[in-house]
Amino acid sequence: MAVSIRQVHPVFVGEVSGIDATRPLAADEVAAIEAGMDRYAVLVFRDQHITDEQQVAFTRHFGEIENSTGGHVTRPEQKRLDPLMNDVSNLDQNHRPLARDDRRRLFNLGNQLWHSDSSFRPVPAKYSILSGRIIVDHGGNTEFADMRAAYDALDDDTKAEVEHLVCEHSLIYSRGLLGFTELSEEERAMFRPVRQRLVRTHPKSGRKSLYLSSHAGTIVGWPMPEARAFLRDLNEAATQPERVYVHRWRQYDLVIWDNRQTMHRVRRFDDNLIRDMRRTTVAGDAPTAAQAAA
Ligand code: OGA
Ligand code: MN
Repeated sequence: MAVSIRQVHPVFVGEVSGIDATRPLAADEVAAIEAGMDRYAVLVFRDQHITDEQQVAFTRHFGEIENSTGGHVTRPEQKRLDPLMNDVSNLDQNHRPLARDDRRRLFNLGNQLWHSDSSFRPVPAKYSILSGRIIVDHGGNTEFADMRAAYDALDDDTKAEVEHLVCEHSLIYSRGLLGFTELSEEERAMFRPVRQRLVRTHPKSGRKSLYLSSHAGTIVGWPMPEARAFLRDLNEAATQPERVYVHRWRQYDLVIWDNRQTMHRVRRFDDNLIRDMRRTTVAGDAPTAAQAAA
């Protein structure tokens, strides 16, 4: 069946038909999805009743899988899923909702802040692929913002100002915004800030985008309060409703987004209910900025 993509938002986002993500893809299908990602930045596939193994195989069509370790406060023995999978659910290793005050749950609440996945890693992620295995029927929408459109909307002076800026990103900063500040020495070392350019250029389309994320906590060479005030302004402008797509989940939706061109966040939902979301992540290929010496 031929692949077709229908744009479902005025600015970005396509809904794909003609793909069965549970089976190996042909080269022309992979090429059509990649071209769709370059253009729409977010693609939605409906009715993909996929297993973890199939999701891993699907993901590998688009590059190497990013290792999920080092991005969480969950200890290895508490993991519910294979390390190739990112567990974005609200569940513990026995598939039960995490208690209200569970540290892992409080850390996960950071996903409600606008972010780009793995911007806290020296080589940040390319695509994220999220499968809705069990969804909630109130809240829990995932929102996406087009960061190319956000860049385009800046005035010329601001474009010139941001062009060569480099930010420091860390889970310490994003979780700090929520008052999650108790971290062990080991966690602090694991979450050491990394540097990312504030403006990125897409390798295929050549379009520029603002590389923002809740993980960004300062700008290299700037006083921190001034950096944070500026980043807040940029975030506010970037996430205006006309540049935001709201994804209302149906069970077995599979959503792919390009972290180089978008930000996303999940909206609040009732954490007594089971929300089982499983993500695979395609690794990026290079740092966006030179890293400071350790
Ligand atoms: C993610 C994420 C949002 C959600 O998978 O990276 O932020 O809707 N998920 O669970
Ligand atoms: Mn995320």
